[in-house]
Amino acid sequence: MTDAWDAVDEFVEGVLHDEDPILTDAVAAGRQAGLPEIQVSAPQAKLLHLLARAIGAKRVLEVGTLAGYSGIWLARALPVHGRLVTIEVDERHAEVARANFASAGVDERVDLRLGAGLDVLPQIAAEDLDPFDLSFIDADKPNNAAYLEWAVRLSRPGALIVLDNVVQGGAVADPTDQSGAAAAVRWLGQDPGVDATVIQTVGAKGYDGFALAVVQ
Ligand code: SAH
Ligand code: DHB
Ligand code: MG
Repeated sequence: MTDAWDAVDEFVEGVLHDEDPILTDAVAAGRQAGLPEIQVSAPQAKLLHLLARAIGAKRVLEVGTLAGYSGIWLARALPVHGRLVTIEVDERHAEVARANFASAGVDERVDLRLGAGLDVLPQIAAEDLDPFDLSFIDADKPNNAAYLEWAVRLSRPGALIVLDNVVQGGAVADPTDQSGAAAAVRWLGQDPGVDATVIQTVGAKGYDGFALAVVQ
C-alpha cells in the first residue's frame, strides 16, 4: 500500500498546496546538513497550520524543531505578533532551523530554545508567559507523557495539543510493544485535564498517527 499512500500525499500536495521553494529549500538544507528526514509530511504540516488558523492560535509551543519544517508551517499560521516557542536539544539541528526560519521570514515570530525539553519547559513555566493556544509535541518519544503534562500546564483552557507518532505502525495497540507509543495515549486517557482522541494516518510517513487533545 505504501506506493498508493505516497501517491495520495503527492496528489494532495499537488492539488492543495502552493509550490513553495522556501519549504523545499528548508528540507534540502536539513538533508545537506545530514539531519534525519523525519519531519512531518506536507499534508500533516498543513493540517497543523490549518488547526492553528482554525483556533486562531497566537501562541504555539513545539517540542522537537529539527530543521524547522513544521515550525515554518506553524509560524505562518500566526498573526504578526504571534509567537512560536520551539525547543530543540541538538545544536546542529537548531542551527539549520534558525537559518531556515530566517529564510522563511518568520524568525521574528519564532523563539527557538536550545536544550532538552524537560530542562527548557520548566524554564518557560518560570517565565510566566501567556499560556499557549496550541502545542505540537514531536521530540524523543519516551518523554511524551512528561511533555504532555508540561503542555497541559502551559496551555490555556480550550487549547489544543497535538502529539506525533502515536500509532507507530499499529504498535500502540500491541500489548507486548516496547516503543512506549501506548503510554502517552494511556496518559491522555487517565488525565482528567484533557479530552483526547487518536487519528491514524498513512502517507509519506508510513502508518502512524496524531493524538489530538483539548485542554479542559
Ligand atoms: N517537528 C519536526 C520534526 C522533529 S524530529 C518537523 O516535523 O519538522 C524530532 C526532533 O526532536 C529532532 O530534531 C531531535 O533532535 C529533537 N529532540 C530529541 N530529543 C529531544 C529532547 N529531549 N528535547 C528537545 N528536542 C529533542
Ligand atoms: C521518526 C519519525 C518521526 O515523526 C519522529 O518524530 C521521529 C522519528 C522515524 O520515522 O524514525
Ligand atoms: Mg514526528
